[in-house]
Amino acid sequence: MPAARARKVSGRGRDPIVVLGMGHVGLPTALGLAELGWTVFGADDAADKIERLKTGEATFYEPAMQELLTKHLASGNFRPTRDVDAAIAGSKIIFVCVGTPQRDDGAADLSQIEAVARTIALNLNGYKLVVEKSTVPASTAERIKRTIERYARTDSAANGRNGRAHRNGKAREGQPTPRFDVASNPEFLQEGKAIEDFFHPDRIVIGVESDDARALLEDLYRPLGRPIVVTDLATAELIKHSANAFLSTKISFINMISDLCEAVGADVESVARGIGLDPRIGLQFLKAGIGFGGYCFPKDLRALIHLGEEHGVPCGILRGVEDVNLRRVDVFLEKVRHALWVMRGKTIAVLGLAFKPLTDDIREAPALRVVEELIKEGASVRLYDPEAMSNSQQVFPEAPGRVDYCRSAYEAARGAHALLLVTEWDEFRKLNWNKIRDAMEVPVVVDGRNLLDPAAMHEAGFEYSSMGRGTRRAAPVAVRAGRR
Ligand code: UDX
Repeated sequence: MPAARARKVSGRGRDPIVVLGMGHVGLPTALGLAELGWTVFGADDAADKIERLKTGEATFYEPAMQELLTKHLASGNFRPTRDVDAAIAGSKIIFVCVGTPQRDDGAADLSQIEAVARTIALNLNGYKLVVEKSTVPASTAERIKRTIERYARTDSAANGRNGRAHRNGKAREGQPTPRFDVASNPEFLQEGKAIEDFFHPDRIVIGVESDDARALLEDLYRPLGRPIVVTDLATAELIKHSANAFLSTKISFINMISDLCEAVGADVESVARGIGLDPRIGLQFLKAGIGFGGYCFPKDLRALIHLGEEHGVPCGILRGVEDVNLRRVDVFLEKVRHALWVMRGKTIAVLGLAFKPLTDDIREAPALRVVEELIKEGASVRLYDPEAMSNSQQVFPEAPGRVDYCRSAYEAARGAHALLLVTEWDEFRKLNWNKIRDAMEVPVVVDGRNLLDPAAMHEAGFEYSSMGRGTRRAAPVAVRAGRR
């Protein structure tokens, strides 16, 4: 288990921690802290979420999470609750992991953060450390601080007058507002390896303003034995946005090069390796393909652009990154159109709906735009993903003969005029491609993730195209004998 080393130091005997928001950041964080030995309240307003967690059901797919949930419900270290007030009142450290969705203008919608700050103010019954973990624009911590101060004071003033005493803990009529600190501790958890990332982070960033806050957070993370970068609040906040923007930039950069590779007959994977072995560049996040999706990169990029514009800092680089990414699905679909000529009336298998492997998350997944476009152009789709199908059904409900969800890649391939690879699940790499070919009406594969070996696919009789591997040309292909 990931925390073997960490288990030696435990939070036993110390004040409980509350994690506010049981989403993709909050739940893995809460379970990670529980594994480190802390008593952790996992608080969320959503009744269904808390009920499912209480019965031991993980609310989304994340490797190793179910095991930790089962283990720490049993140990009592993890306590899901809807009583947010009581959980805050009963804790010293408060991790804020609520959502920061995107507003229409691209800025982060901080209404949930504000609501949390007010709730904390109303339950300030002693020193608290409020740790901002949600991804937020720089200077949000300042606003959290001001909001807590304002509402804590209002609450104090109101005590005794209108009977609105402290909701939990002791009312503090006539008492000064208890001391609190706000810290920023951005998360770098990747979906699909969030638990592993919690226990083995490359670095831990903490933005603090007081020795108390620093000591509490260093104490909490010391067992992980990883480098801790200590900064001020705004710097920590900006580190998070910068990290995501930089990684997105790498992806869009290689995707732009991928298009150039196709234009001049070069190979993007060799370019990526050729540049990535330079340690100043690095090999990671240079996988060309259909572009980045998910809840973080697209949203955080827009939020950073918005922040730059708000402060008069030109963010043209980031706009370019976004533009390249928005075009990726078009580039991919152009290959499909090129292979099929006419889309209307064709049956198309789509393998992979999640925005990346090892998650059931489809937020901003390239597959959504692909499927939407195929349907719009009159194709029938046969969809398969190992984990993300029930989420996809909320977006594209099953409509037999037009939108079919399949139990396997083989079933999806049946009768298809083309098969599209949109998410690089490992199981797709290991498919019996001869069997797939035999199930298809026409053996056309468009690989949006460069998952498969072009030579092997051509050898197996596929008309195969991928992203930026221009020199490995597709062989001409015939419709299988006996088929229409
Ligand atoms: C990201 C950050 O990596 C993480 O540190 C942060 O805390 C949250 O946001 P996540 O959104 O889970 O994590 O996914 P990530 O693995 O970063 O991938 C994001 C997207 O980029 C995916 O759609 C993925 O397919 C795509 N990607 C990634 C590429 O297209 N090419 C690459 O080389 C790498």
